[in-house]
Amino acid sequence: MPLFSTDFTHPRSAIWNMKTNSSNSLLAVSTGPLKISELPPNSVGTGDESIHLSLVIPTYKERENIKNVVNVLSQLLDESIAGNYELIVVDDDSPDRTWEIAQSLTTEYPQLRVMRRQQERGLSSAVIRGWQAATGSVLGVIDGDLQHPPEILIQLLRSIEQGADLAVASRHIEGGGVSSWSVVRRFLSRGAQLLGLVILPGVLGRVSDPMSGYFMVRRSAIAGATLNPVGYKILLEVIGRGKVDQVAEVGYVFCERKEGESKVTWKQYIDYIHHLVRLRLSTGKVGRLSRKVKFPIGRFVRFGFVGFSGVFVDLTVFHLLRTVIHLGLTRSTILSAGVAIVNNFLWNDVWTFSDISQGQRALHQRFKRFLKFSAVCLAGVILQALIINFLYNVLEINQYLAKLIAIAVATIWNFWVNLKLSWRVTDVK
Ligand code: GDD
Ligand code: MN
Repeated sequence: MPLFSTDFTHPRSAIWNMKTNSSNSLLAVSTGPLKISELPPNSVGTGDESIHLSLVIPTYKERENIKNVVNVLSQLLDESIAGNYELIVVDDDSPDRTWEIAQSLTTEYPQLRVMRRQQERGLSSAVIRGWQAATGSVLGVIDGDLQHPPEILIQLLRSIEQGADLAVASRHIEGGGVSSWSVVRRFLSRGAQLLGLVILPGVLGRVSDPMSGYFMVRRSAIAGATLNPVGYKILLEVIGRGKVDQVAEVGYVFCERKEGESKVTWKQYIDYIHHLVRLRLSTGKVGRLSRKVKFPIGRFVRFGFVGFSGVFVDLTVFHLLRTVIHLGLTRSTILSAGVAIVNNFLWNDVWTFSDISQGQRALHQRFKRFLKFSAVCLAGVILQALIINFLYNVLEINQYLAKLIAIAVATIWNFWVNLKLSWRVTDVK
C-alpha cells in the first residue's frame, strides 16, 4: 500500500472533530530523553491510524505569521492528503503569546495542535518535543515564518513515498538558493558548512544543505535513538544518530522574512560548533572507541582546548608585563604562568568539569580545587623537565620533538590526576 494512498484520504472528518473537541487544550509536553517512539503515542485501538504526516512548526515570537502559515499549509495539504496530516505548533512560551493565537485557530483548523513549552527552550528540542506528540509515520519540520516555501512540502512527501528515509529541502541544489542574503551571511553559512565537513564528513557530506531546517523523515529512521541536539541544527542530529539510508533532496529558495525577525545571533554559531564536536565524539568510530576504552574523550578534548587557551593567555600577559610594565624576565614568566593557571582552572571548573563542580559550588570548595589543580600542574612541569632530560640527554632525540612528547605526557598526567583528584569524579553521583 502506498504511503499516501488516495483511497485513504477523507475530508476533515468526524474523527478529527471528535478528537479535537475532546482535547481542545494544549498538547502535553513530554519530559525526559529526547527520544521518538517506534509507535505513535495512543496508536493502539483508536482506529485512527491513517494520519501519515505530522508537521512540526516551531515558533518563537511569530504572532504576525502564525495565522498565515497555518492557513497556507492547511490549504496546500488539504489538496493532496486531506485528513491524513496534522500540524503541530511548538511554541516556547513566546512573550507575544503566539501559542495563544495558534490555540484560537484550532476550531477553524481541526488538524492543528498546539504545544506551549515553559520548561525548555531552543529550536531543536522544540522540534523533537513536537515529534514526540506526533501521531504520523512521517515526521516533518518547517519554519513558522514563511521563509520556507510551502509548495515544496508536496515534493518532499513524494520523495518519501518513493522510498526515501529522509527528504531535505535544499538551498544548494538545482532550483535552490537564497533570495537576498548579504555577502557576510552567505560567507558565514558556507564557512559553517565547510567546518562541519572537516569535523563530521560522514554526516555533513550526505546532504548538500546540512543546515536546512526544512525536511521530512520516516519515524522508523529515528525511532529509538536518543537525540541530543544543541542549538538550531536539528538535521545534523537526525542524520548523525538516525538510521537514514536513502536521502532525497528538493531544491528551494529561502525567502525573505515579511513579518517578525530572525532569532539567529552569534550564540547559534557557538552552539553549532559545540554540536559538531559533541556529535563527532559520540557517534561513529570515535564514539564506539570512547565507549569501549571508557576514556572520557569529550572531557579530554575540552581540557585540551582550555590548555590551548592558557598558552595564549600566558603569552599575552608575558608580553604586556615585559613591554608595558618592563618587569624582569623571571618575574614576568612566573606571573604570566600564574595567570594562565587561574585562567585554565576557571574554564575547567565551569566547562570541562561543570557537571562535577555544580554540586560543589561554595567558594571554599572552589578554592580547594584550585589549590589541588595548581599543585598537579606544578608536578606536571616537573614531569616535563624529567622527560625532556631523559629524551634529549639519554636517547638523544631532537629537543623540539622531546619537548612535544613531554607536553603530551604532561597533558595526560594533568588531565588524569585532576580528574581523579581535583574534581574527583568518583565521589560524585
Ligand atoms: N519553539 C522555538 N524555540 N522556535 C524557535 C526558536 C526557539 O528557541 N528559535 C527560533 N524558532 C523558530 C522561529 O520562530 C522560526 O519559525 C524558526 O524557528 C526559524 O527561526 P529563524 O530565527 O527565523 O531562523 P532563520 O530564518 O535565520 O533560519 C532558518 O533557516 C536556516 C537555513 O535553512 C531556520 O529554519 C534554520 O533551522 C535553518 O537552518
Ligand atoms: Mn526565519
